[in-house]
Amino acid sequence: MSVNKEVKRVTTHTLAKMKQAGEKISMLTAYDFSFARIIDSAGIDVLLVGDSASNVMAGHETTLPITLDQMIYHAQSVIRAAKRCLVVVDLPFGSYQSNSEIALASAVRIMKETGAHAVKLEGGEEVTESIKKITSAGIPVMGHLGLTPQSIYQFGTYAVRAKEETEAAKLLKDVELVQQAGAFALVLEKIPAALAQQATEKLQIPVIGIGAGPHCDGQVLVMHDMLGINTEFKPKFLRQYLNIFEQATKAVQQYIWDVKSGDFPNEQEQY
Ligand code: KIV
Repeated sequence: MSVNKEVKRVTTHTLAKMKQAGEKISMLTAYDFSFARIIDSAGIDVLLVGDSASNVMAGHETTLPITLDQMIYHAQSVIRAAKRCLVVVDLPFGSYQSNSEIALASAVRIMKETGAHAVKLEGGEEVTESIKKITSAGIPVMGHLGLTPQSIYQFGTYAVRAKEETEAAKLLKDVELVQQAGAFALVLEKIPAALAQQATEKLQIPVIGIGAGPHCDGQVLVMHDMLGINTEFKPKFLRQYLNIFEQATKAVQQYIWDVKSGDFPNEQEQY
């Protein structure tokens, strides 16, 4: 029997059942084959091929520059490694905002060319037509509200969103609209914990938080942040589980020393 047949794939239905059962959902980002393999085999529920690839893989300041072709490349690499988890791919900036036809065309490209299981897009009321159009084609859509990095130049800052009453009320309206439009889950980023709790209790679909407190149905972090690959980004909500930057620097320094001193390669390390 092949490995694939033995592994039960996490689906959008699995996530819905997890919410009903009160079982927390774990989600991390991944952008390449090797890390996706580690994270999937560790037992993650959802892998997000986030447009944060623009920051952590390409070194851009924002998520805006990454293209649909580049997202497809990252997603193709991740999907080859993901044997168990659900793989969700971000629709990048400019690939869905114009109208729902363009949104569907972008989502179809992702599904056809990568083999991913769902797409994610940012926004509330203004993207509901696109969510309806994409889901009507049989493609599961994850929403994303609160701090939506593709709108950073409109916000002007990465500070916590929806602290004021008016923005909080709009967020609560938007989460409902995104659910009604057919989204299967929703990411809430960097909003007060009490507001995220209200949204989570109000919605039937699972809510995955990042900087949104402990009451969400699950949590997501950017892999490079939680593994300490990228050590310059240290928001209050981040828990850093490793310091790969430091450990890798030490290993590389040791390698340089070993090469220069003639210690590497030794007798066992040659033919
Ligand atoms: O692109 C991304 O990494 C994301 C997460 C922050 C949720 O959208």
